[in-house]
Amino acid sequence: MSQIETTATFTKPGTLSIQNVSKQFESDDQEVSALAKINLTINPGEFVIFVGPSGCGKSTLLNMIAGFERPSEGTILLDGKQVTKPHNDRLMMFQEHALFPWMNVIDNISYGLRWKFRFNWKKRKQRARELLSMVHLEQFEKASVHQLSGGMKQRVALARALAPDPKILLVDEPFPALDALTRQKLYGDLQELFTRTGKTIVSVTHDTREAACLGDRVVIFSGRPGRIIKEIAVNLPRPRDFNDPEVGRISESIMAELQHEK
Ligand SMILES: Nc1ncnc2c1ncn2[C@@H]1O[C@H](COP(=O)(O)OP(=O)(O)OP(=O)(O)O)[C@@H](O)[C@H]1O
Ligand SMILES: [Mg+2]
Repeated sequence: MSQIETTATFTKPGTLSIQNVSKQFESDDQEVSALAKINLTINPGEFVIFVGPSGCGKSTLLNMIAGFERPSEGTILLDGKQVTKPHNDRLMMFQEHALFPWMNVIDNISYGLRWKFRFNWKKRKQRARELLSMVHLEQFEKASVHQLSGGMKQRVALARALAPDPKILLVDEPFPALDALTRQKLYGDLQELFTRTGKTIVSVTHDTREAACLGDRVVIFSGRPGRIIKEIAVNLPRPRDFNDPEVGRISESIMAELQHEK
């Protein structure tokens, strides 16, 4: 794995505390209970993965952490302060369609820095370049989004989310529709960035092997309304190889828990 060479600095991440959080959605005359009584503390610098059956509220919980949705009951605190709206301290890595097609790569990454560095265009470019080198795309600074492969777009999306230096990076099923080899390379990149920046990362996946490969802790949800049924700590050294038999063993134990839920 290549070494990252950059002088970019990152702030210390914060503690996220999810206390008794439930969420109901009301639409027309129907009420959907998406999540029930979630209690979870995510520690600074921890990589936490949510897995669970489709529709159990994983994205809903991520959206509430991001501040896009409010809990119906309970509270979410970041460093003791209630989360009520979106903020640069909690950023979501969106999937490729969220890149601006009319901007080149470097401008896509700089975009999120317009508030951080106000009118200092030079600082924005410098930080964007550093982030670009961290995802190994320095030669593609001027490329248009449509000239990039799916995996490269995901790398740009990752750099863009990290550029404003959030305390927590939120990632909802980040690697859809990519071939196996590209996904495995991205797992390597994500682990490298995680180690380099010390960020807290909260990610959602349906792939139990991805969960075991990336997570410090895998949080397993029941079917809707989602409750936490089990947490599995993954104490393997990093960087982890997706094909490592130990990763496979942990993946199987996650799968076994999920199968109870069917
Ligand atoms: N804005 C909304 N309005 C109404 N219902 C919603 C809304 N967002 C989510 N839901 C409902 O809440 C439940 C949980 O949805 P959510 O998207 O969080 O599930 P998920 O675990 O992310 O599923 P998947 O694995 O398929 O992505 C679903 O029944 C969904 O229909
Ligand atoms: Mg989802």
